[in-house]
Amino acid sequence: MVKLCGIGAGYVGGPTMAVIALKCPSIEVAVVDISQSRISAWNSDKLPIYEPGLENVVKQCRGKNLIFSTDVERHVQEADIIFVSVNTPTKARGLGAGKAADLTYWESAARMIADVCTSDKIVVEKSTVPVRTAEAIEQILAHKSKGIKYQILSNPEFLSEGTAVQDLLEPDRVLIGGNEGPEGQEAIKKLKDIYAHWVSEDKIITTNIWSAELSKLADNAFLAQRISSINAMSALCEATGAQVSQVSLALSKNPKIGPRFLNASVGFGGSCFQKDILNLVYICECNGLVEVANYWKQVIKVNDYQKSRFVQRVVSSMFNTVSGKKIAVLGFAFKKDTSDTRKTPAIDVCKGLLGDDACLSIYDPRVSADQIKKDLSMNNVQWDHPIHLQPLSSSSSNGLEHVDIAEDVYEATKDAHGICILTEWDEFKGIDFQRVFDDMQKPAFVFDGRNILDVGKLREIGFIVYSIGSPV
Ligand code: NAD
Ligand code: UGA
Repeated sequence: MVKLCGIGAGYVGGPTMAVIALKCPSIEVAVVDISQSRISAWNSDKLPIYEPGLENVVKQCRGKNLIFSTDVERHVQEADIIFVSVNTPTKARGLGAGKAADLTYWESAARMIADVCTSDKIVVEKSTVPVRTAEAIEQILAHKSKGIKYQILSNPEFLSEGTAVQDLLEPDRVLIGGNEGPEGQEAIKKLKDIYAHWVSEDKIITTNIWSAELSKLADNAFLAQRISSINAMSALCEATGAQVSQVSLALSKNPKIGPRFLNASVGFGGSCFQKDILNLVYICECNGLVEVANYWKQVIKVNDYQKSRFVQRVVSSMFNTVSGKKIAVLGFAFKKDTSDTRKTPAIDVCKGLLGDDACLSIYDPRVSADQIKKDLSMNNVQWDHPIHLQPLSSSSSNGLEHVDIAEDVYEATKDAHGICILTEWDEFKGIDFQRVFDDMQKPAFVFDGRNILDVGKLREIGFIVYSIGSPV
């Protein structure tokens, strides 16, 4: 029986390894992590991450050919193939702070592999890493190889949160990069054979290892660039009387452009887009490609601009002051159908409003009160001014005393002066806005940062409405 070990039981490692277990009953899959609390949650009825369909997949395999464990070393030693899905955040201090990928977790996983392994292994990079990381990993492994042969493959993950299970069950492609020699090709074939249990061969792309590593960074950069492009257009729409949703529709019908990723928003969030572009920027700078670096930086600058533009719009519309006014924030997750708040635009918008002394009442159907308060009490690492800052204490200065977490939309909006929609949760489309309006201060404002509401209907009720990319 082939044995797999997945190091890192997070948003990628957990769902990816669970789907492999589901689709390959003849393969034993162990998912390991240094975090006891994460592993305990994977072994409980309340999984550590929310993903539609995930519970069902885990329940079908857990205890059969899928286990979650903190016994990292044992499972690494026993595995034939080791998938590494540890976090690769942006470096917060030191050389490259604010841009470069922090490979501390990857390096410590590689050193542990080198320490404990006693037989040949295939090591798969699932994490998103800078191009040529495999070279560094190879050096770490070779240093203590004790005659053991390692083959390193790059097999980046393209799943999106909120649709992870579906993306894994029916991937648009699987990318595998490996060394071009016979041993590298043999390793590629072994990994291909695993995916072949449920993915058709024409969807499995094989490349050299550097192309696979770089393709992942390029993929996220292109997606984020598309959002910044439509968000840049949304500012122009507001200034000229065009409607961004109509512009998106027109663009989407051009087969050379296609329909997806054209929704203007309050800005993109999530753990990866910003970090991966910054990583790309840093690699370009290290290679002396200043113009290329500047080109990609602009994608993040437009995203920052979009978030601050939204805050400015809220404050300026409400007579240039939100001081002491209750504002309902609907949605805190970085997108719908996830509880993940990493780099959510809601953090920047809320901090911007708190900076203007607003009182916030925040409601999100999936994000816990503790998580929201934790996010709002942390300082951001400024990507263009890398300085390491300590988290603020939960005392008066961070404005947390002006933050309430509501149990539902109606509690959040009661007596509020304004509403900000920051996540496109489906339940917000079904809000009884007449009831909300009746309970709000007047004039009652709605700022739709996701363009999900029917502006005409809201105006009929009496709201003053601002919707991203629509003339005011
Ligand atoms: P995550 O923080 O949710 O999970 C990483 C896990 O690795 C954590 O549970 C951590 O405890 C564990 N870990 C760290 N070092 C370890 C070690 N030495 N041994 C054992 N466990 C260790 O991160 P994530 O969102 O799953 O992302 C992982 C990687 O996948 C990143 O490189 C990310 O860029 C990439 N990626 C993420 C997504 C996504 O949607 N989140 C999609 C595609 C790719
Ligand atoms: C993204 C990519 O889509 C995945 O292919 C990739 O694997 C993943 O990053 C990763 O490497 O982590 P994810 O961040 O989970 O996936 O979610 P997306 O659906 O891409 O949304 C990212 C952000 O962009 C969200 O804040 C979303 O609201 C925003 N967005 C997305 C828009 O503002 N407009 C759009 O049209 C689409």
